[in-house]
This record gives sequence, C-alpha cells and structure tokens, in this order.
Amino acid sequence: MSIVILGIESSCDDTSAAVVIDGVVHSNVIASQKVHENYGGVVPELASRAHQQNIVPVVSEALRQAGVNVSQLSAIAYTRGPGLLGSLLVGTSFAKGMAIGLGIPLLDVNHLHAHVLAQFIRRDADSEVPEFPFMCLLVSGGNTQIVIADSPSDMRIVGRTIDDAAGEAFDKCAKIIGLPYPGGPHIDRLAAEGDAKAFKFAKPSIPGLDCSFSGLKTSFLYTVNNEMRRDPNFIELHRADLAASLQATIIDILIDKLDKAVKLYPVSQISIGGGVSANSGVRRAVAEYCSRHGIKAWIPERVFTTDNAAMVATAGYFKYLAKDFGSLASPPFSRVSV
Ligand code: KG4
Repeated sequence: MSIVILGIESSCDDTSAAVVIDGVVHSNVIASQKVHENYGGVVPELASRAHQQNIVPVVSEALRQAGVNVSQLSAIAYTRGPGLLGSLLVGTSFAKGMAIGLGIPLLDVNHLHAHVLAQFIRRDADSEVPEFPFMCLLVSGGNTQIVIADSPSDMRIVGRTIDDAAGEAFDKCAKIIGLPYPGGPHIDRLAAEGDAKAFKFAKPSIPGLDCSFSGLKTSFLYTVNNEMRRDPNFIELHRADLAASLQATIIDILIDKLDKAVKLYPVSQISIGGGVSANSGVRRAVAEYCSRHGIKAWIPERVFTTDNAAMVATAGYFKYLAKDFGSLASPPFSRVSV
C-alpha cells in the first residue's frame, strides 16, 4: 500500500499544501499573501486571517492536483514551529481537525528541519537525493544557520546569526532604497545589472561559525544617507550598484563562514535551503565553492527554497517511516532552533 502524506505549511505568510506519495511529490500549492506588501513586512494578525481564508481552498487544490481523495491519506504532516504563533495555530488546528475526522496520524514537523530536508523532495522515484551526513547552509527570512544533518531527525547547528538573518539584511536594505517587500528577489534582479565593486560595506568580524548582518544594514544605511545628502538622486542613479554590492557582501559573509565550517567539520556534500537560497549569486557562489573543494553541491529548485508544503510533507514522510507520530495535545511553538 502506498504511503500518502498531506503536508500543511502556515508558519509565516505563505499558505501551502502538498501531497507526497511514497516520497514523491504529486502537488505543491502555495498561496502567497499579497496583503503585506503595503506594510513593508509581514503583519502577523493579517497573516493569520489570510491563512484562515486560504487553507481550505489550498488543501482542496493540492488534493485535486494529486488526484487523491481524503480517504486515501495515510497521515497529515504540519508545521508545528517555529514561526508566527497565530499563523501556526491555523495550520495546526486544521491538521488536527482533519486527522481526527479521518482517524489518521499526525506528523509534526519542525519548519527548519523541513527546509534542510527540502533537498529530499523528489519529482519522481529516480530523483537524486543527498546522503547523510551533509552540511546545509540554511538562509531564510527568519534564520541563518549552518546545520549538519546526521539523519532526518538529528541535526546539529554549528553556526548561526547573532542578530539579523541574511533574508532580513536583503529585505531591510531593499526597503532603504525604495524596493517593495520582500526585497530579496528585487535585489537579486537588480544586482545582475550593477557593479558589485561600486560600494564597500562594513563586514563583521564575529569569531567562530556565527555571523552577523545588522552591522551591514547600518553600514548600508549610512552610505545611502551620506550620499543622498550630496545628491538627492543618488538612489535613483545607483540602485543597481547598491544592490550588487550588498548582495556580494552578504555572499562573502556566508561563504567565509561556510569555509570555516568545512575546515572544522569536513563534509563531502553541502546543500542550501531557505528563501535566500533562491538568490542567483548565493547559488552560484556555493556551487563554485563546492566545485573548488571537491564537494558535491545540492542546489534546490527555486520553488522549494521559500516556504512550501512539499518540504513539510517530505519531512513528514521520514517521520512516518520512523513511526514518529505527533500528539493531538502538542501546541505550536513560535521560537526554537533546529
Ligand atoms: O524561507 P522563506 O520563504 O521564509 C522564512 O523566513 O521562513 O524566506 C523568505 C526570505 C525573504 O527575506 C526574501 O527576501 C528572501 O527569502 N528571498 C531572497 C530571494 N528570494 C527570496 N533573497 C535574495 N534573493 C532572492 N532571489
């Protein structure tokens, strides 16, 4: 009998549902919430309300696209945390209600584990996947971590940001130069047209494998403010150069830490995950770093870098195989590391 997992993701501002059958993804529906664009960031209360509106149609569509009837489901995997509590409550309550109604088990998934395991999302039974252990550079809007995955359930964080995440650096700097939220993809697009050496921003010197991005944001703001005093058209004239220089600095910080991590924890495979791993420059830099060091690089499809339920269903599939079922009494959690 096939193992059919419905995955539900609602940790931030994307409502997503996916169906994974015997480890192969058959649907992955994502409703991104446009409502936050006007505010320059995610408004938690609005996110919870939008999840409430989206969750039934998104789950129905994921089942429809996979050609699956609810009676065929083996279990329901959902993101239990970390994330915005009100958003998580929508997915958690929905998953629990559905599991009770169908009399099937729940699989509670750690959102960060799911990002690391996104590399195991298979398009078909022959898709190549990493072998454990591997190192993952996890770079999203809320987290920046270097993780060593020893197994689907054993993950060690060996480095992390001490302040902002890489995604926050992209988004906050993008806002300074008038780009819409989330700014990361806009910086990525503009960086391709700009000169990465045009501006020099302060790089932090944090010992060990931890990193920091808040100083970079301040340095970016300082440069922009200073130049704007001299020339009010500065941003207009130099937006692409600012984007390219910012992106290059973020990549330098990440690759520097990755290199230190590899020296301390030699690995033969490195993957990247999280929204920032959609960035063209990050993808290129990690692939180049790996090829220089004889390491196999795992670069995910862009659709699986940002929040999606395919990674939740895939992480849930591992849990199902391990018979690691969730409890109806487990509340969602807002903060936790891997
Ligand atoms: O993983 P994610 O969807 O959300 C969580 O934080 O859980 O990541 C969202 C982040 C945002 O900061 C967004 O700006 C960034 O990923 N991002 C990018 C790109 N696409 C998304 N940053 C740089 N370049 C991109 N192409």
